[in-house]
Amino acid sequence: MTKKKPEDLRSHRWFGVDTMRAFGHRSRTMEMGIAREDFAGKPVIGIINTWADSNTCHSHMRQRAEEVKRGVWQAGGYPMEMPAMSVGEQMTKPTSMMYRNFLAMETEELLRSQPIDGVVLMGGCDKTTPALLMGAISMDLPAIYVPAGPMLRGNWRGKTLGSGTDAFKYWAERRAGNVTDEQWGELEEGMARSAGTCMTMGTASTMTSIAEVLGFSLPGASSIPAVDSTHQMMASRSGRRIVDMVWEDMKPSDILSEAAFDDAITADMALGGSTNAIIHLTAMAGRAGIKLDLARFDEISKKTPTLLNLKPSGIYLMEDFYYAGGLRALLKQIDDLLNLDRIVCNGRTLGANIETAEVYNDEVIFSRDKPLSPTGGTAALSGNLAPTGAIIKPTAAEERLLQHTGIAVVFENVDDMYARIDDPDLDVTADSVLVLKNAGPKGAPGMPEWGQLPIPQKLLKQGVRDMLRISDCRMSGTSYGACVLHVTPEAAVGGPLAFVRSGDEITLDVAGRKLELHVDEATLAKRKESWTPPENPYARGYGALFMQHVTQADQGCDFDFLHAGAATPEPKIF
Ligand code: FES
Repeated sequence: MTKKKPEDLRSHRWFGVDTMRAFGHRSRTMEMGIAREDFAGKPVIGIINTWADSNTCHSHMRQRAEEVKRGVWQAGGYPMEMPAMSVGEQMTKPTSMMYRNFLAMETEELLRSQPIDGVVLMGGCDKTTPALLMGAISMDLPAIYVPAGPMLRGNWRGKTLGSGTDAFKYWAERRAGNVTDEQWGELEEGMARSAGTCMTMGTASTMTSIAEVLGFSLPGASSIPAVDSTHQMMASRSGRRIVDMVWEDMKPSDILSEAAFDDAITADMALGGSTNAIIHLTAMAGRAGIKLDLARFDEISKKTPTLLNLKPSGIYLMEDFYYAGGLRALLKQIDDLLNLDRIVCNGRTLGANIETAEVYNDEVIFSRDKPLSPTGGTAALSGNLAPTGAIIKPTAAEERLLQHTGIAVVFENVDDMYARIDDPDLDVTADSVLVLKNAGPKGAPGMPEWGQLPIPQKLLKQGVRDMLRISDCRMSGTSYGACVLHVTPEAAVGGPLAFVRSGDEITLDVAGRKLELHVDEATLAKRKESWTPPENPYARGYGALFMQHVTQADQGCDFDFLHAGAATPEPKIF
């Protein structure tokens, strides 16, 4: 491998030349007390940190950035920390998904506009991982990902609590009248016991695992709990490694390939990962110029067993996964399904990185002959109700609903749903199919996680805990239930979902991968004549940009102008 020389560094144009502008760049760096020998001729390592008080999952990342810097200094680099919008899942409204593309754009433009040679990306809470990676893939500078790490197990009265999953579960019990105010307060205090991301196999842990499988994180990094001392070590090791990656010129385009995305999908399926991964992987692949379609996800799902016994599909949590051997041990179980010769960010092959991994607890990571499910955690559906696709997570649904025909109870939008769902007169039974329209990328807007529609209170009181639900939105990776999601085209752009009415019959057939509305074409065409799309609430600003350019779920909900294309020019420096 030919190593770069200092004058080959991108930052050389800022710091290494004899111009008036370079004088300013050097003198203003020294303004911060940084000596010439601390930065001259050294790789400038951007640290894009999504720490913010508004992002509860990243509260430890101010400190982690210091540990990354320690590694960068030690390896002979010059660290430059840059804050970026922290799209925290909890506080960001109307939906964090709306701002994933914002952070992706910010990441790409931060890297382009500054004298950066390589970057350490620091994220973890759901959308931050795909956003940071999407921006880094588009910019194509050496990049390494430091995942925030999951929080410790939740606890309530001796019972383990999993983020999201148990909040949904106990909220249903509260609505059924089974949880007191005092108990609810205790649950709130016991749910999130430390810094870090949700500790179920929700979107955060799915996406950080995927980042590692793609080759962006050091081996094993994604499984380490946020507050474990090895997490600090991983941060400084990542800082050291990125400096070498710059000298080696190891860029995302050297790591990513169709094989890398196949491996990421395979891992997602074996993990029983979040349904959101499908959208994010599609968007990330789009940035790399690789086309992923739902058929590819389904093909891989059919041949990949789900092995991880974590909530919401199973019973354990990320801390248990870490002690059971973590992601490397899980990958070792499915190594015949992976492309082991791929080089990843530490400069070794994926195969070499997992070669010695072992499972220490086969109740958490199941063996191939006793899987949680013989196929993957997500199934892709098609049919006249979802001409360009929809998905479901069968491993998190009641078995009886995976082959089901029922009568639709339709909600035109989320306001309509919350106004009527608990109405004692609502004409609904446990066999009904709850349908939510206008909750997709443009309809909501921002494709929120409303897809685990609440079970009507009167049915909860009868003991019903799962129903078939269909929508054009997403659901949290920590959610569960027979929820058909990402129906495309969405209702707001005139997809067939827009024309479903209460009383229609719908069939879900997961084994046959079908979602069918039993209404004839002529009737649907007639209904279409009187249809009008929902109003666009944004006349200006980022919202207007979003509405104009966001693509549908099957294309990853990226902006159409951010897909891979002609290279963007480097900035002129005069
Ligand atoms: Fe941040 Fe779940 S809320 S990872």
